[in-house]
This record gives sequence, structure tokens and C-alpha cells, in this order.
Amino acid sequence: MIRSEIVSFFSDFALRYIGIIIGKEKAYLIESRLNELSKSLGLNIEELYKRAKNNLTNELLNKLIDALTTNETYFFRDKIQFEALKRYVIPELIQKNSQKKRLRIWSCACSTGQEPYSIALLISEYFPELLNWHLEIIGSDISKKAIEYAKRGEFSQIEINRGLPARMLAKYFKQKGNKWVLDSRIKRLVRFVQVNLKNSFIQLGKFDLIFCRYVLIYFSDALKKDILNRL
Ligand SMILES: C[S@@+](CC[C@H](N)C(=O)[O-])C[C@H]1O[C@@H](n2cnc3c(N)ncnc32)[C@H](O)[C@@H]1O
Repeated sequence: MIRSEIVSFFSDFALRYIGIIIGKEKAYLIESRLNELSKSLGLNIEELYKRAKNNLTNELLNKLIDALTTNETYFFRDKIQFEALKRYVIPELIQKNSQKKRLRIWSCACSTGQEPYSIALLISEYFPELLNWHLEIIGSDISKKAIEYAKRGEFSQIEINRGLPARMLAKYFKQKGNKWVLDSRIKRLVRFVQVNLKNSFIQLGKFDLIFCRYVLIYFSDALKKDILNRL
């Protein structure tokens, strides 16, 4: 069991740097999240705490963010939303933007990429005319590790089994060892960047459609409102 001072420190840390609330009563969560990281750095939690407190480098900050965030995701998560995207949202946006032939979509907490790649797969499959438009799909996340993974566009069998239709697997992925590699034509439709929603994201410009799913749930009401006002 870790000391309450360490629990308080990392609970405050998560709120300050990420915006997520990990209550002090969730000592077990903080401990389990940091155990793996401290082991990988050859430290114990006490030493990790001292380093985070006294010598927080950018590299350590990123590692702590990776460890403290929940990156659960899968392809075509919440089918009904993707069905609505296919039936109503994209057709409406095609009509609305038919003059300028430009469409910008943002997956603002995209984790390891399954969400923006699902959007890109759906567009390729059902709206191929959009591939001749100025189409931009941006995937962003606070977690550097998740973004690096997303950029590779390579997924394990378990990740593939979670939501990807067999037909799309056969058409858009190739097997390489124990990974499934996404076709570069789909991969290049998505640009990945590391963005902390707590900070300004004005540099990304305006979007026609924003996927903001399973991320605000971790924030305070005030931060939820602030982010929603800026989206
Ligand atoms: C549970 S995943 C959801 C992924 C995807 N949107 C989905 O619905 O499948 C939540 C993601 O939010 C990211 N996240 C947490 N706090 C964030 C912040 N302040 N700014 C940007 N991303 C954040 C995490 O790193 C994680 O990848």
C-alpha cells in the first residue's frame, strides 16, 4: 500500500496536468497504474514519486500521462453512432459542403487510433467520392504513446476482433507476423497529433464534425463545460 502523501501527489498531478479526477480514495488505481511504469524505469513507487516531485522532465511527464490515462477503445465503438454517421451525418455534410468540396473531421481523444481509422474506413467504403475532396481526418490524444501506436496503423488480433467487420479486415488489412497492417491508402487519410484538451487547441482550426467520446467522463463539470465551449 502506498503512502497517502504519494496518493495525494499523483491525484493532484492527474488533475493539474491531464484534467482527470482520480479521487484520493482510489489509491489502488494509482498504485496499479504506477507500478508498471516504475518497474520499467527500474525504480520503486517511492523513487518515482521523488523524481516526479523534484525532477519532472518532459519525458517523465509524458510517461506519467501515458500511465494515468485510460486508453480503452475499439473499432466502430457504439455501432449506432457509426450507423448515424453513414445514414445521416456524412450525407448532410456532403450536401452542405458540395461547393467547397472540403470536409474536416476531428477525433479529439482518439487513443490508439481505432476511432479515426473507423471514420476513414467508413468513408472509403461508403463515400468514395470524398476521397477526391479536400478531406482531413485528425486524430489527437494527450497520450504520446497512444499517438505513436496510432501512427503505426498496426493492430493485434485482439484489437481487430474488437469491432472490425471481417469484410473490412479482408479488404483493408494485410497480416504481418502477429499484427494486422492497415492499408496505406486508409492510413494516410488520418493525421495524428498530441493535444491536451485542457489547453488551447485553436491551432487545429475549425471542424465540420468532432468525435468527442469517452473522454469528458473523466473531467470535472467545470472542465467539461470549458472544453465543450471551445470545441
Ligand atoms: C477511453 S479512451 C476513448 C477513446 C475513443 N474516443 C473511444 O471512444 O473509443 C479516452 C482517451 O482520452 C485521452 N485523454 C484523457 N485526458 C485527455 C486530455 N486532457 N486531452 C486529450 N486526451 C485526453 C486518453 O489518453 C485516452 O486515450
